[in-house]
Amino acid sequence: MRRNIVAGNWKMNLDYEKGVSLFSEIVNMVKDEIVGDQQVVVCSPAIHLYSVAKLSTGVNNVAVGAQNIHQAESGAFTGELSATQVKSTGADYVILGHSERRAYFGETDASLVEKVDAALAHDLTPIFCIGETKEERESGKFFDVIESQLTNAVFHLNADQFSKLVLAYEPVWAIGTGLTASPEQAQEVHAFIRKTVATKYDQNVADNTSILYGGSCNPGNAKDLFSQTDIDGGLIGGASLKSRDFLDIVKVFNAK
Ligand code: 13P
Repeated sequence: MRRNIVAGNWKMNLDYEKGVSLFSEIVNMVKDEIVGDQQVVVCSPAIHLYSVAKLSTGVNNVAVGAQNIHQAESGAFTGELSATQVKSTGADYVILGHSERRAYFGETDASLVEKVDAALAHDLTPIFCIGETKEERESGKFFDVIESQLTNAVFHLNADQFSKLVLAYEPVWAIGTGLTASPEQAQEVHAFIRKTVATKYDQNVADNTSILYGGSCNPGNAKDLFSQTDIDGGLIGGASLKSRDFLDIVKVFNAK
């Protein structure tokens, strides 16, 4: 079901104590300040998952996610985590296809197909990331890139399975650079994504898909971005490491 979601991606930041303490602050602020039904998701490093999931138990609106899974069920894959293991911590979400994993860890559409399937098989909601590089934007090929990322990694799903995904448009050139896509640029791509989903499935599936924007989103630009018709929230990197900034982004939806 389409819903407003603000997800934090802590990436490889925060030791165990600092992560638990930031999460506690976030939970308390959500309890005090959130009046809407927006979903808050914190995607922490694996070391925090069990503890932060415990802290989120029974707290309306707050859920926890991982940043990656391995596609296999179990076995000799040193250093990896399976969907079952992540789910057993109490996490409900997993980021898949983040551009940093595609660029630095060789993640391909083919491995993402298997990861998406593994996540869904274990009741983890994938936050599936797509987005073009700077060169792809400048050459005008970005719609093709996005269409092929969807076609090759998630369009094997049937409509029921696809409805369980959250999509995140993260232009690579906007991640960690301070260069945010303008609300118009982001809306243009979000509308394209929704149209592509409608063509593959149907309008109802497309209208019920949550599509988040990610890339240098902060308390100063979130309102203009989230007020666009096809933007249902954000996937937040740097600003999710500061409880006040993160909550101010989440609170954009209080006013709606
Ligand atoms: P920044 O918000 O730091 O640009 O990171 C975005 C991101 O990659 C979230 O997944």
